[in-house]
Amino acid sequence: MNKYSHFSIEEKLKNMFDHIANKYDLINHILSFGIDFIWRKKTIHILYKFNVIKVKKILDLATGTGDLAILLANKFKYAYITGLDPSYRMLEIAKKKIKDNFFEKRIQTIQGYSQNIPFQNETFDLVTIAFGIRNFQYIHHSIREIYRILKPSGTLVILEFSKPSNFWINKVYYFYFYFVTKIGNFISRNRFAYNYLKESVLSFPYCNEKMNKLLKYHKFNPIHTQKLTFGIVSIYLFKKK
Ligand SMILES: C[S@@+](CC[C@H](N)C(=O)[O-])C[C@H]1O[C@@H](n2cnc3c(N)ncnc32)[C@H](O)[C@@H]1O
Repeated sequence: MNKYSHFSIEEKLKNMFDHIANKYDLINHILSFGIDFIWRKKTIHILYKFNVIKVKKILDLATGTGDLAILLANKFKYAYITGLDPSYRMLEIAKKKIKDNFFEKRIQTIQGYSQNIPFQNETFDLVTIAFGIRNFQYIHHSIREIYRILKPSGTLVILEFSKPSNFWINKVYYFYFYFVTKIGNFISRNRFAYNYLKESVLSFPYCNEKMNKLLKYHKFNPIHTQKLTFGIVSIYLFKKK
């Protein structure tokens, strides 16, 4: 029994992210050798490449400490961004960064869950999710909610870990996760957190084909899939049909 075992799965995850929030950015940058920043930038690049430029309202789901929301505010100068996340402490850090970057007028943060998005139908032009979708406890509900709050022909972009197709890269990747778990647990002083990270990444069933199939099932049109860093992560671009 760990200290979270009597909570529901949503509460467990929320508590876990609350617990590691202070060290989340540091651990992320160390474990990814700083590449996570480049992956988020590349996501914005792809939006531009596919002409997703004139957007006014953006929802950054699972915004966490707000890095993608801030990048979006930098690139989309006329857009208003909402960062939604259940973890109060992750949002506290996001708010501080938003203030430091003078984006308080254009980025708001809201505590909430992807399976119950507190906005009216057809509110947003663009929904972004960076390293969030594999954590969604109710994935089908969440995708239906994203569909509901997107405007017609609205865009969904997802950045997420994926499975490298090369046999040897895959081996190294699995081996590396052994160290990620040890280092992450040590720095965050939370055994559940980085064991969970390893489990969630390695058990996440979405190779590129499955992710596209899942979103197609929910009436999204796959526009583009791009593998980054040997396929360790992928970016998926979809349009609401
Ligand atoms: C790995 S962090 C990613 C944060 C940020 N997007 C980034 O790029 O660093 C995953 C985030 O998903 C959030 N999360 C977990 N379950 C969620 C849900 N059902 N709906 C929305 N966000 C959720 C967590 O609180 C956490 O902040």
